[in-house]
Amino acid sequence: MTVYELVFNIPSDPHANDEVKGHSSRAFLTDLHLIDMPATVILGAQWGDEGKGKLVDRLAEQASWVARFQGGNNAGHTVVIGDRVLKFHLLPSGITRQECSLILGDGMVIDPWVLHSELENWIETGGDDPKGNRLFVSERAHIILPYHRAMDSLDKTIGTTGRGIGPAYSDKINRIGLRFGDLAEIAYDASWAQSATERMNRSLEAAGSDVRIEVESLQEEVQWIHGIYESSIANTGLMLDNALKLNEHVILEGAQGCLLDIDQGTFPFVTSSVTSRGNATHGAGIHPGHVTDVIGITKAYITRVGNGAMPTELEDAAGEHLGTVGHEFGTTTGRKRRCGWFDAVVMRHAHRINGFTSLALTKLDVLGGLDELKICVAYELDGAEITEMPSSASALARCKPIYMTVPGFESKTLEEWLVVARHANENGLGITSLPQPAQDYVRQLESLLGIPCSSVGVGPDRDATIDCN
Ligand code: IMP
Repeated sequence: MTVYELVFNIPSDPHANDEVKGHSSRAFLTDLHLIDMPATVILGAQWGDEGKGKLVDRLAEQASWVARFQGGNNAGHTVVIGDRVLKFHLLPSGITRQECSLILGDGMVIDPWVLHSELENWIETGGDDPKGNRLFVSERAHIILPYHRAMDSLDKTIGTTGRGIGPAYSDKINRIGLRFGDLAEIAYDASWAQSATERMNRSLEAAGSDVRIEVESLQEEVQWIHGIYESSIANTGLMLDNALKLNEHVILEGAQGCLLDIDQGTFPFVTSSVTSRGNATHGAGIHPGHVTDVIGITKAYITRVGNGAMPTELEDAAGEHLGTVGHEFGTTTGRKRRCGWFDAVVMRHAHRINGFTSLALTKLDVLGGLDELKICVAYELDGAEITEMPSSASALARCKPIYMTVPGFESKTLEEWLVVARHANENGLGITSLPQPAQDYVRQLESLLGIPCSSVGVGPDRDATIDCN
C-alpha cells in the first residue's frame, strides 16, 4: 500500500487492513507518535544557482519523497540521461529515482503548461507518467496563467525570469489567485471566467500592455488544466505528514537562494516568495518540528543573475575565469551570470536566517588555476567597516568588499577531479584528499562561518562530490 492510498483509505476498523508497511494497523496507529522521521531541508545560501538539483539528486537515493515548497519555473536544473539533456524547472530533482515520490507543495506557483511539457519530455526519454502515482500537486498551490506571464513581461526594473512568478504571487496576496484545488468548482463556471477576464484586462490595460485575455480561451484553459491534473491534485501536506509518521525520509527542496528571499533578500531585487527555512515546512504543509538537518548550498565563489548590487562582483580576468570555467549561464533564461569572490558577509546573513546545520560547498574545482583567492570578510560602507549586510539596496550598492587573500591551487581536468572524489569517498578521506591549498580554503570558509561542510563538489558528475562526514 502506498502512502497515498494509506492517507485516503485509512480503515475505520483498525484491524481491517492488517499489513501496512510491515506494521499491523493497530501497531501502526500507536507507532505514529514514536517514529517521526526528520525531514532534510536543502536551501540555496546565496543568489540561487548554487547546485541544489545535483545535491538533491544524490540525496534522493535515500529519500522516499522530494517536495518543493515555494517558487515556480523560475528555478531550473539539468539532468543528463544518456545523450539527452533534460532541463527541469518544476519537477523536483528526485524525478530520476523511480522509488521517490514528488510533491509540488502548497507555497508554489505552478505553470501547468511548463509542467506538462516537462512531463512529456520525461516520458519521451522512457520515464513513467508519474501524475497521480508518484507526482502530486498541492490543492493549495496557485496557478500561473497567460495573464501572469503577460504582466511579468512588462518588468524593466528587477530583471525577472519573465515566467509570471511575481504577478501570480500578487494575485495570491490579493486573494484573487486561482488554486489547483479550486479548479473543479470554477472550470465550468462561465461567470468566473467572465469576471476574471474583465479583471485581468483592466490590469493589463492599466499596466500599458497590448495583450488581452478572451473569456472563451480562459475557460478552455482552466478546463484543460483541470482535466490534465485532476488525478494528481491532493492534500499534499497531509501526505507528507503521514509519510514522516511512516518513517519515510522527506527532502524539502528550496528554489532560488536566501538573498532572493522576499523578506530577507536584497529587496526589491528579489523573487516573490520566502525562499528560507522558515517557509520550507510551512510551504510544504507540515510543522517545523520535523526538520533537523538544514543544508545550505553555496558555491566556492558567488554568482547572481538579474539586477541588484553584488559587492564582490568581478569584472576582471578572475571574473572571466569563474564564468568560463564554471559555465555560468542561467538554466531558465540562458542569461550570463555575474561572478564574484566568496562573500562571507552574505553567508553570515544567510546562516542567521536559516541556521544551517551543514554546508554543501559546490564548484570548488572552478577555482583551480587562479594564483590567489579572495574571501570577502566585511564591507566598507561610507568609510565605516561593517560585518552585516545593510537592508537598503542603495547602501548595499555603495558597499566595498574587504578581502582576505589566500593561496590558490592548480587546475585539474574534470576526469582528474573525479578521480580525487572517488578516491576520497572510497577511502573515507573527506577533504584531506584535496590539494593542501584547496583544503585550507575550505577550512577557512568553515571557520569564518562556524558551519561544517558536509560535502564538497569538484565537478558536474554525480560522483564528483566528496563526502565530508
Ligand atoms: P522572478 O523570480 O522571476 O520574479 O525574478 C526575480 C529575481 O530573482 C531576478 O533577479 C531573477 O533573475 C532571480 N531569480 C529567480 N529565480 C532564480 C533562480 O532560480 N536562480 C537565480 N536567480 C533567480
